[in-house]
Amino acid sequence: MKTIGVFDSGLGGLSVLRALLLEMPEARYVYLADGAYTPYGGRSAAQVTERAHRITQCLRQDSAVDALVVACNTATAMAIESLRQEHPDWPIVGVEPALKPAAALSRSGHIGVLATRGTVESERFARLRTRVESESSRPLHFTTQACEGLVDAIEHGDEATTRALCARYLDALRASAKTSAPMDTLVLGCTHYPFAADILQTLSGPAVRLVETGAPVARRTRAVLGLPEANTVVCGTPHITLLSTGDPTPLAQASARWLGTTVGAIHVDF
Ligand code: DGL
Repeated sequence: MKTIGVFDSGLGGLSVLRALLLEMPEARYVYLADGAYTPYGGRSAAQVTERAHRITQCLRQDSAVDALVVACNTATAMAIESLRQEHPDWPIVGVEPALKPAAALSRSGHIGVLATRGTVESERFARLRTRVESESSRPLHFTTQACEGLVDAIEHGDEATTRALCARYLDALRASAKTSAPMDTLVLGCTHYPFAADILQTLSGPAVRLVETGAPVARRTRAVLGLPEANTVVCGTPHITLLSTGDPTPLAQASARWLGTTVGAIHVDF
């Protein structure tokens, strides 16, 4: 049985773990929330890279995981290349905003992208956007918005603030659009945002399709591990270990709420 390490700055990577569990229900998972350092979005690339390397080392050595999923767009944007350089013999799967799937889905060609400041200002995101635009056979318009505070509001389960920030950032997205084509597709470019998907969908209206990255990342992880497609539904408790460098209680609660697990979370210090 394969063991897969998954990490994020906090609770957001649970949206990726949810997709991994659907794709590979029999695998074992070690999920680490870097609660002591969340959010990553406003931190420097050097800080996030240092945390990503520490976490990767711990998951590889102490938990002997077979592969790593960087379930954080910000950490992927800032650190995945150096992680792969340091661990060339080991599968590392990252998460990036789903611009290509969104381009395939959008009819109008106008796509909104919500993400952290760290992601939208990263070189990796700029390269991804240029690549998707240049590969498209028609003009695409990406309107991006950095969502300060939204990760924190989701981390704290603060629904009123989450709703207010979603409304503010959707307004900002519409106001900064440089095309009159309707925005019909919205990329959730941070793994926390799927947990605000109901709010974002209600505020955006039924004509807008929300796109997240959990399922494609889970398929990619299965492929790099060489595992066959699951053709059975596994009943019973999934094999998950939850670790947090911060307070472990919110992680256990969020996992119970979003994944239906009953496991406790363990505090780890590094
Ligand atoms: N879930 C992380 C992401 O996908 C959140 C980053 C943060 O902590 O700001 O970008």
